[in-house]
Amino acid sequence: MATHPASSGRVLVTTPIYYVNDRPHLGHAYTTVAADFMARAHRLLGREVFFLTGTDEHGERIAETARARGLAPIEHCDEVVTGFQDAWKALNINYDRFIRTTEDAHVKGVEKLLKLLHEATGPDGRPVIYEGEYRGLYCTGCEKFLSGRDIEDDRCPLHPTQAPQEITERNYFFRLSAFLEQLKAKIENDDIRIRPEGRKREVLGLFAQGLDDFSISREKVEWGIPLPFDRSQTAYVWVDALSNYITGIGFGDRPDEYAKWWNDGKVLHLMAKDILKFHAIFWPAMLMAVGERPPDEMFIHGYLTLVDQKMSKSLGNVIKPDAWVDDFGVDGARYLLTTIFRFGQDGEIREAMLREKYNADLANDFGNLISRASKMVLAHFDGYIPEADYSGPEEQVLKTAMATAEQKFSEAIDDVDPNHAVEAALSIARVANRYFDHAAPWKLAKEKQMDKLAVVLGVTIEAVFSCAVHLSPVLPNKVPEIMQTLGFTDAEIDARLNKGRSIAAPAGRQIAKSPPFFPRTDKRKGKVGPEKKEKPPTGLGQKIHPPL
Ligand code: MSP
Repeated sequence: MATHPASSGRVLVTTPIYYVNDRPHLGHAYTTVAADFMARAHRLLGREVFFLTGTDEHGERIAETARARGLAPIEHCDEVVTGFQDAWKALNINYDRFIRTTEDAHVKGVEKLLKLLHEATGPDGRPVIYEGEYRGLYCTGCEKFLSGRDIEDDRCPLHPTQAPQEITERNYFFRLSAFLEQLKAKIENDDIRIRPEGRKREVLGLFAQGLDDFSISREKVEWGIPLPFDRSQTAYVWVDALSNYITGIGFGDRPDEYAKWWNDGKVLHLMAKDILKFHAIFWPAMLMAVGERPPDEMFIHGYLTLVDQKMSKSLGNVIKPDAWVDDFGVDGARYLLTTIFRFGQDGEIREAMLREKYNADLANDFGNLISRASKMVLAHFDGYIPEADYSGPEEQVLKTAMATAEQKFSEAIDDVDPNHAVEAALSIARVANRYFDHAAPWKLAKEKQMDKLAVVLGVTIEAVFSCAVHLSPVLPNKVPEIMQTLGFTDAEIDARLNKGRSIAAPAGRQIAKSPPFFPRTDKRKGKVGPEKKEKPPTGLGQKIHPPL
């Protein structure tokens, strides 16, 4: 039976913790903005939310990057982590906790988990952890051993520039085999809900292919957390990293906080498909082994691509989030990241498409509605917003459309479907624009039909308000500004957007004059993406964003 404690009104939203061997690029921003969107949307719906993100700082690859830069690993991490924190600040990412795997609280939590694993026995009565020898090809890019299925042309397809290394070593293993049956059932019946459906099928396909026990430690990797039961080994970086989802909410040091979010909330992990197996199989199995609840839901989105290749440092084809922020503004960049591609599918970035979408949705549909309606309120009612009177048939239609859109918005959020949520919110502006055009308030003004004019402007402003409120998770800078212009106080704005409380309608408040909220974008300011889909003559990434 699927249990979804979202009904308890509490949600833990997570992003992967990003490796600090890379500077943040749009691919990282894609997940982080989506998670921030989900967190804000749940808050808007009145739910209690904890939004966790952070950085993955241990492992051979990071130690190597630091060595190559002539720095101690922690010096390297301390420097690169600020790049992520600054990027998230620039995108107005409102996380509750930024966890670094080098922090004490995390290390303590991982030690606790490792001890519990070491003491645990599986459903078959055998110890969950055992010692063994590993021989195989290792990809430092993925920080994992490659199976035959993972290899194409002797290389890892995700890191084709680095040859996999042949490794033999003594490791501690996790007896995954003991949990496969239970785990598969939980995935099949959506106890652990994996979406989109195609990804659930992909995971179930992995069971059919066969899954091996995996090692939880490394013998020769020094930059990591020593195993509490054998200090000559360090925790495998994926065990270290996945644990952040519980150590970040107090597993090691604050049991009440931990229980509040992990046991009494709905846990939603967001990520791209590259790390699905770790999240959908290894992670729930580890939790089950120590008697903890597996996560409720994972949503797996696609890759941002350039010239059909995943944007990534190893391929050198990255675009920095700042390029989009400089060009489209913070909210414009967030809007495009959230809406431009179907969440769950890959998306090829093209400059013209970005500009068209920004202009059509923000400058035209939403921006024009605000400016047309508010200008008329300023011109004819001294800025005072008239009462919204829905007794007429046309106004009824608008009211029904608003109610339907609001309903669709909540359903889309529960489905982890940012595209449809934003689409629902924006549909309010579209319907309101049609209503406005049809009602022709400029004619009513000329004919001095002030009562009718008041009705048209009253309901239109209420539609602006509803549209703005529902767009706030994607436009967290502009929507509060819009609400201020409509006469709402900061306390009201905070109550409505961040605490899900209802507040008094716009009627009776005085609108302030404002410059356009979403000026059209036509001119190229920076490099937001290729104009056309063709391979640039020189390495695109090298020009846009020099590697570390
Ligand atoms: N450190 C691990 C994750 C541990 S989570 C317990 C890791 N780090 S990463 O820096 O490589 O981040 C991978 C994640 O970054 C992807 O799953 C995705 O969320 C995001 N993306 C990185 N490049 C991306 C694209 N080109 N497109 C979409 N998302 C991308 O794996």
